[in-house]
Amino acid sequence: MERLDSSDLSARCRRDFPALDRRRNGAPPVYLDNACTTLVPRSVIAAMNEYYTDYPACGGRRSHHWFAREVTARIEGDSEQGIPGARQKLADFIHAASPQQILFTANTTQAINLVALGLKFRTGDRVLVTDREHNSNLLPWLRLQKQGLIRLEAVPADGDDELDFAAMEEKLKGGSVRLVSLAWTSNVTGTTLSAAKIIALAHRYGVRVLLDGAQTVPRQTVDVQDLDVDFLAFSLHKMCGPRGIGVLYGKKDLLGRGIGEWEGGDEVLEPAILGGGTVSDSTFNSYQLLEAPERYESGILNYPGIIASGTAIEYLGSLGMDRIADHEERLNGRLTRALLERYGDLGWFRIFGPRDAGRRGGILTFEVQRPNAVGIATELNAGANIMIRDGTFCVHSYFNNRFGPGWTHPRSHRDHRMIYRVSFYLYNSIEDCDCFVETLDRVFRERGYL
Ligand code: ALA
Repeated sequence: MERLDSSDLSARCRRDFPALDRRRNGAPPVYLDNACTTLVPRSVIAAMNEYYTDYPACGGRRSHHWFAREVTARIEGDSEQGIPGARQKLADFIHAASPQQILFTANTTQAINLVALGLKFRTGDRVLVTDREHNSNLLPWLRLQKQGLIRLEAVPADGDDELDFAAMEEKLKGGSVRLVSLAWTSNVTGTTLSAAKIIALAHRYGVRVLLDGAQTVPRQTVDVQDLDVDFLAFSLHKMCGPRGIGVLYGKKDLLGRGIGEWEGGDEVLEPAILGGGTVSDSTFNSYQLLEAPERYESGILNYPGIIASGTAIEYLGSLGMDRIADHEERLNGRLTRALLERYGDLGWFRIFGPRDAGRRGGILTFEVQRPNAVGIATELNAGANIMIRDGTFCVHSYFNNRFGPGWTHPRSHRDHRMIYRVSFYLYNSIEDCDCFVETLDRVFRERGYL
């Protein structure tokens, strides 16, 4: 496929997504909920169908027959047959040194939990997070805190919505910080943190870093070696891939080297879930783990999902990650300007995070503080097939911190305040953006807000 300019990216891509061919009330879908999950191109659907149709067997070391070999070849690659493996494609995509550093999980949540459950924390260890963590990068740590094992601390943002580096360094100086685990890009504000700077600072104090890249990896070029990140978690369903596939990348020394039952010190990630496919031998007294990635991938895996993840990566690669980022930023800039021009001075309309769309990638979250502010997303959906997300986006802690403890939907009703999020991806067009602005304006007028 030829490489494209960001200006014609959506025009070229839209036909690849069958969901965009649908019509309701004579109008197409205006899908603006991409930070939640993205649409799926035909090639990815075809890859999943091909698995179920042609070789619906298990992969790995279990069986060695015709179908099993076809599955394994598509995951691990087969140079003789010229079949590239999905694991290698994922490794290349984030510039990992080896495909053995790509661990397939069910999603970002499971990837983060593998680290929380697999690192050997000692009582008194501290874990640092940001002040805007998705529950996936909060609850695993809260559980360890509840068990009396770690102390969880949130590093605040500075006035520019970047991580407050001075506050982070103060905490690192205090000693006993074992891990820094951060949402690289916030799914609320869209702000992407300066990961390289954060990692360099943490490493200066001998502290490892886990990046929750769920909102970052789908929309920018990532080089894990350049970043020097210790762990990176992300999900394929936010990048045109199948549902139920995530990745945990880990540095080689953190994933263990030997095949002994257990080797390596406190630094090595213990597999949190053991079972079929993770060991080379077992008796009633012992077991011998396989090397990474197998020791971390227990049970029958989501083979069609893994294979189709490779197809999704190829699809994104053919478009170019820089173009995708540029495209999102342009649409977000257009939307930001339109909304601020109309409502920026009214006092009841606020955009979360930086005003500059360039710092919010494809995400624009806004607050409406007016009587009965709930239900706007439903009206946009009913009126023009516009799909956005509202509520708290699994980041309750951030909103409770901002609006007061217990800020949940019933409370937001009393506050007459509601939060809405628009999120773009590569197939969204200027027409999608303008349709959203016009329809929102109509809803605001019908509600008597304007
Ligand atoms: N974390 C996803 C979102 O923000 C589900 O919508």
